[in-house]
Amino acid sequence: MKKIQDFSMDIFSLEGKVAIITGANQGLGMGYAYALAKAGADIFIPHLTDNISEVKEMIEGLGRRVEFLQGDLAEKKHLDEIVEKCLEKFGRIDILINNAGTNYFCDFLDFPDAEFDRVIKINMNAVYYLSHRVAKVMVKQKAGKIINIASALSFTADKMCPSYVAAKHAVVGITRTFANELGQYNIQTNAIAPGFFQTDVNIAISSDQEFYEKITNRIPLGRWGQVYDLMGTAVFLASSASDYINGWVINVDGGFTTTL
Ligand SMILES: NC(=O)c1ccc[n+]([C@@H]2O[C@H](COP(=O)([O-])OP(=O)(O)OC[C@H]3O[C@@H](n4cnc5c(N)ncnc54)[C@H](O)[C@@H]3O)[C@@H](O)[C@H]2O)c1
Repeated sequence: MKKIQDFSMDIFSLEGKVAIITGANQGLGMGYAYALAKAGADIFIPHLTDNISEVKEMIEGLGRRVEFLQGDLAEKKHLDEIVEKCLEKFGRIDILINNAGTNYFCDFLDFPDAEFDRVIKINMNAVYYLSHRVAKVMVKQKAGKIINIASALSFTADKMCPSYVAAKHAVVGITRTFANELGQYNIQTNAIAPGFFQTDVNIAISSDQEFYEKITNRIPLGRWGQVYDLMGTAVFLASSASDYINGWVINVDGGFTTTL
């Protein structure tokens, strides 16, 4: 039983922790990686593309360790390797952020089955399969934090991206399932739902001026998000400051999903 006077800002520290953050070599993931490293964690980054030098320099510049493994999250063999390699390099896994994601835009009636399946494999199946594998390690460690990256499109739908909307709605269900199943092992599973941020995944929509303004006008804070806006929430959900929060989604969207 903790007393009120036990409270200290140290509950936000990630000193000695190890975090896997998928796709953190660019975009929003790079922000989570930097934030967690700044809070004291060492970072393991499974990545698809070659561009790892910027994030490596940023994290090593903080005096933290970062290790990488290249591969496709759609392949189950790669998911096994992520767990094996992270344990080999760091000996533990305290935090998993399922950040990697993809999208495909196309008129609904022409939407190819293959693109529906591809997006579901990465944005939904890989979140479940990797979390399931990592959970077995966390259960042995008797603690862990799983953070899934949902979206404003976990609560709303838009045209031309049915697979993304379906997968991101499923991420909320996966988050609640893991919260229910793993709470008994002192593992907290939560999600962050970013609103609209200008990254690679959004190039098509953010360069459409009419759409850009439509979205901006709907955001009560009046602007799209910056990577910086997500970093505090990631540290909070990764740290013991959030130990009694389990199965919830924090929307970091300037109020977008609260409006009509
Ligand atoms: N940018 C936004 O406005 C926004 C809003 C809500 C949610 N999100 C979510 O945030 C997460 C990060 O997106 P981002 O905006 O930084 O985009 P991004 O395209 O910059 O980053 C996505 C990352 O996922 C990786 N990835 C894609 N397919 C992969 C695969 N098959 N195997 C391994 N890695 C793969 C990419 O290589 C990249 O590193 C995604 O889950 C996205 O859906 C983004």
